Amino acid sequence: MLHSKDRSTVKTLIISNRLPIKIERKKSKLKFTASEGGLATGLGSFYKENGSYWLGWPGIIPKNKEEEAYIREELKKLNLIPVFLTEKQIRDYYEGFSNAVLWPLCHYRPSYVELKESYWNAYQEVNQLFAEATAEIVDPSMRIWVHDYQLMLLPMMLREMNESASIGYFHHIPFPPVELFQMLPWREELLRGLLGADLVGFHTFENVDNFLDSCSGIFQNEIDRDNFRLSGRRISVDVFPMGIDYEKYSQQALSPETITYSQRLKNLFKDQKLILSVDRLDYSKGIIQRLNAFELLLNMHPELIGKVVLFMLIVPSRDQVNQYKKLRNEIDRMVGNINSVYGKPGWQPVAYFYHAVPFEILSAHYLAADICLITSLYDGMNLVSKEYIASKQDAPAVLVISEFAGASKELSDALQINPYAVRRTSETLYEAIEMPLEEQAERLSASQEIISKFTVHHWVNLFMERLSEVKEQQQQELAR
Ligand code: ADP
Ligand code: G6P
Repeated sequence: MLHSKDRSTVKTLIISNRLPIKIERKKSKLKFTASEGGLATGLGSFYKENGSYWLGWPGIIPKNKEEEAYIREELKKLNLIPVFLTEKQIRDYYEGFSNAVLWPLCHYRPSYVELKESYWNAYQEVNQLFAEATAEIVDPSMRIWVHDYQLMLLPMMLREMNESASIGYFHHIPFPPVELFQMLPWREELLRGLLGADLVGFHTFENVDNFLDSCSGIFQNEIDRDNFRLSGRRISVDVFPMGIDYEKYSQQALSPETITYSQRLKNLFKDQKLILSVDRLDYSKGIIQRLNAFELLLNMHPELIGKVVLFMLIVPSRDQVNQYKKLRNEIDRMVGNINSVYGKPGWQPVAYFYHAVPFEILSAHYLAADICLITSLYDGMNLVSKEYIASKQDAPAVLVISEFAGASKELSDALQINPYAVRRTSETLYEAIEMPLEEQAERLSASQEIISKFTVHHWVNLFMERLSEVKEQQQQELAR
């Protein structure tokens, strides 16, 4: 529970499945670290500035009541409120419905979808759990901002508790075309869940169109697409491309600690072009296609042997879900294969690290990299591309980005690739390696101009302004 003093200062209650801090048990001690993933890293850096609270799962099952109380107290110091999940809920709601149904469907992988009634039951149960946890702390004056696909039923559950509440929802991942969405036996419940919000936001116009197509297709006469409302209540659906905390990344890159570490990296890979990729281990990131393109590059340009390295920082993610386990094995196999075929004493073409790194170290990698390679097969936004641009003061810096990442729409000065076109991708990589410094600097500064303007602060303000507008419109309509 929040104290009444806290309540009076809270403006927004952010709700997402994962909190921006995750807790792990290491050698019987609890370790609190920053979560990875765009939602947590994007909003995580500044939510407290606005007096906001954040409700979500801290990623751990407390071993007893004392430990649970301790975790609550520690998180409360950071304005975070935990929702704890049981082992079964983690398996069926998180790994199951969220990441073996919704995630693959939204990322165009219908063959990976595991439609199980038990997953759906757990999804409803945990959304209800979040609704109850919200009811315990929310104040009628607070705005509620629900995030992402794990909580699609929550907006309507909250609406049923308070008809006039201000509720926003943001979908951080792609929304699939109606032909795919229709596959879901629970499509209607999920859409109705989202329509409990006053404002539903997406990263791109394509996602908005897909969502509206699904609404018109599934609710038919109930929905007026051009004057969007459900049961008379106006609902706004709009595009809000998420930005990053530009200052945080650009300032960190100037810190002595980051510069020193970056210099060490450069010395380690002296006279080599450093191609960096940073992502969660996820099939949506196109890691297999990336390795294929890099291998082809070495094959087509043997003169690059010993002169270029693919440096992959991959953070473990959802490693209990089948498709993620398989992918990990496949990556291990491919990296081993490329290194054994093309490597030579003292040099390996692929440097692969399977763990998260602290922010200062991540920043040093961005600073040291000549090229950042993003090969997403589908990605809501992709914040890594923006973090790279913000961390660079000047060339050498080339961003190679998949046209299927939301960020590619804003980053038109980057080199764009279709990651499925492996040969073309390796040719683009070669172009990046050979790009004159002057051209690199021009492209970089054009991208920096955009990203420094459309930051995460701008994103939050825009979303909140729009939410207030919708509430005003609803009130005017009620008064008429
Ligand atoms: P997604 O949300 O699908 O994970 P994004 O690129 O939008 O993709 O966000 C990923 C976030 O996770 C970024 O902020 C990035 O800095 C962070 N991240 C990814 N991999 C690592 C890693 N190995 N170590 C630390 N942070 C990482
Ligand atoms: C993406 C999703 C987030 C999720 C993150 C990390 O960014 O949009 O909702 O939190 O990946 O995934 P995880 O399953 O570890 O929370």
